[in-house]
Amino acid sequence: MSQRLRSVSLVLRALTAVPVLLLLSGCDLNFWRMEGHQSTMFAEGPVARTQLELFWVTVWVTLFIFVVVGAVLAYATIRFRARSEADEHAEPPPQGHGNPLIELGLIGASVLALVIIAVPTVKAIWSTYDVAETDRKDALEITATGYQLWFKFEYPSEMAALDSAGAKAPLVTGNELVIPVGKPIRIHLRTVDVNHSFWVPKLAGKVDMTPNRRNLLWLKADRPGYFWGQCAEYCGDSHAVMRFRVIALAPKDYADWLQQQQTLGREVALKPADAAKPKIQVAALRSFRTNETGVSAKFDLDPLKSWQAKQLPEKGEDSALISQGRQLFASKTCNACHTVRGHGAMGVQGPDLTHVGARSTIGAGLLENNSEQLRRWLRDPESVKPGNKMAKAYRDNKISLSNEEQVALVAYLESLK
Ligand code: CUA
Repeated sequence: MSQRLRSVSLVLRALTAVPVLLLLSGCDLNFWRMEGHQSTMFAEGPVARTQLELFWVTVWVTLFIFVVVGAVLAYATIRFRARSEADEHAEPPPQGHGNPLIELGLIGASVLALVIIAVPTVKAIWSTYDVAETDRKDALEITATGYQLWFKFEYPSEMAALDSAGAKAPLVTGNELVIPVGKPIRIHLRTVDVNHSFWVPKLAGKVDMTPNRRNLLWLKADRPGYFWGQCAEYCGDSHAVMRFRVIALAPKDYADWLQQQQTLGREVALKPADAAKPKIQVAALRSFRTNETGVSAKFDLDPLKSWQAKQLPEKGEDSALISQGRQLFASKTCNACHTVRGHGAMGVQGPDLTHVGARSTIGAGLLENNSEQLRRWLRDPESVKPGNKMAKAYRDNKISLSNEEQVALVAYLESLK
């Protein structure tokens, strides 16, 4: 094959790669824009924006160097290539000491490139480390604690009711961090066990949660939104599905949410009509694969709206089922690990469930919080998220739930708005 034919075939082969790439990406425009739930390419707050800008400075500087060096290399390779048999066996040309002007110029250019990257890097390190001193008094302080395999969020400045006698303690939630828009959020990062890492790609990240040490991270959301978070440090079997959410609300909506969260667990009075209803046989839940996604397309269409819909009590609540579920929560010893303020459950091993019905996800952001997925989780937590502590508690204490018990517990948990 002649030289020219070979080049043509090479170009043709390279061109066939384009449709293959398009096919692999499902022709998804978002794939090319690098848009997704956990994309760092779409910053929604000042900290993520600073990090993104720094990324682009580094990309442009290194791309410029790559193009210049590549061009010189290509020129030299083509210009000085062997053109004949004699060229290939020729003596090397006389060796020189190089050109001092070019050498000094290259040293100068390298230093300049490093300075162009270093200045914004140092500025970014300072500005993302902590809230500016002038804004610190306005910041909302949060303590985020990593557990294998979920996140606890504590609001030290917001007191919540502990019992009907008036006792109070700082508000605690699990796996969903709700924040007001436009306010700097100063997050103290801790862990109770191994290393975890706190990362909300569109808002800020990532900073490790390290044993016996407090690390700091801050973020701010520009607008109301629903943001995906992820543990970014290997921490156990289900590290990849140790997720969380950040929900940013307008100040008024945030105040409403906070007020509701500060109340005790919701009481649902037993209605005589519900109590008189005959018990029905409950069918077994269908089976799922390990780690099978538990989020519906409808939920993902507008996750913030889906989250808002969870704040109101479900339609058609069955008060008899809820009260049976509440009894099971104690008799099956769920209360040994979980807190439901005002319902006599004060366990602290697992997430606080006082208002679990008002969260959009369960299982550390893995499943949508609906009755099917909640039941799937209660039935066999190990098959959903291998290595979690709830599955171990089931094994150690020989806990199992009948179909009827699963449904009653689901009704109770869903009533906790
Ligand atoms: Cu926690 Cu990975």
